[in-house]
Amino acid sequence: MGPQVLLIGGTGMLGAPVGRGLAQQGFQVRVLTRSVERARARLGDEFEFVAGNAEDVASLSAALQGCQGVHISLDGRFDPDLERRCAANVVQAARETGVQRITYLSGASVCAENCWYAGTRAKFQAEAALRAGDIPYTIFRCHFFMETLHNFVRGRAALHIGRHPSAYLWVAAQDFARMLAVAYQTPATVDKTFYVCGPEALTMRQALQTFCQIAHPEARLVYLPLWLAGWIARAGRRRELQAALPFFAYCAQATTLLSGSPDEANALLGAPLTTLAAWSRLQAGR
Ligand SMILES: NC(=O)c1ccc[n+]([C@@H]2O[C@H](COP(=O)([O-])OP(=O)(O)OC[C@H]3O[C@@H](n4cnc5c(N)ncnc54)[C@H](OP(=O)(O)O)[C@@H]3O)[C@@H](O)[C@H]2O)c1
Repeated sequence: MGPQVLLIGGTGMLGAPVGRGLAQQGFQVRVLTRSVERARARLGDEFEFVAGNAEDVASLSAALQGCQGVHISLDGRFDPDLERRCAANVVQAARETGVQRITYLSGASVCAENCWYAGTRAKFQAEAALRAGDIPYTIFRCHFFMETLHNFVRGRAALHIGRHPSAYLWVAAQDFARMLAVAYQTPATVDKTFYVCGPEALTMRQALQTFCQIAHPEARLVYLPLWLAGWIARAGRRRELQAALPFFAYCAQATTLLSGSPDEANALLGAPLTTLAAWSRLQAGR
């Protein structure tokens, strides 16, 4: 049997497919969630679930019993700093329980220059907490995930929200899960920071067009400037959209969206190969 890993954020948009990928690679995946009932209703009996909260070290320590590793993939929504607090708490709980590896899903644009944005600052500081700790860690600075494209399709519209001046190197969560599994089994990945970049550079518009042509032919691309998206979010009390808008503003303003090279990750862990078209075909088949 493979190593047992606690997945913090395992019920999330990225955590769930990453958990599935780890399980396929033979890992025993235990998902930490604030509500086991809600998690089970959503994900069935795919994983072992354990109740806990990233804010509560005692619950983390209890959840980590018997685990060799812990992967952090959580999102604090309106409280981005949760990621920093979680990383510090995980280091403490890992020390108490003898966990041998902490892995963390960070972002490709994380660097000091971009810390004016609260989401990046929290990730930058979460990374610092892992580096300052005494538990072996591996940080993954991942580019845009293909899975996010689902969020933009609303009925017969595919929303292109805000300006995205740069192309993104779209990554499939499945590819990331495979790289993560290799990292857990490769001592040379200890205390490293890796950049995870997909095989193609596509703008948001190009990515939405490809995804919709294949998986949502009924959807028409609709451009929403940020001010209009903000108005819709407020008027319609759409909290998910409200929470996402600062990130879209960041995408429009940040000049550095990739702060390093994926070469080392590709050499040690195997490059992500899934193209957006191939991933979209899989979504269409679901
Ligand atoms: N979108 C991208 O392209 C991209 C790229 C790079 C990195 N990322 C990062 O990936 C991470 C995960 O994002 P996502 O979209 O998968 O998240 P998500 O779908 O919003 O899910 C949030 C997750 O966080 C967990 N969570 C929230 N508060 C918690 C707490 N206090 N204690 C324990 N768990 C808590 C939730 O678990 P329960 O509700 O079950 O408790 C849930 O599983 C984020 O940090 C994001 O910035 C995203």
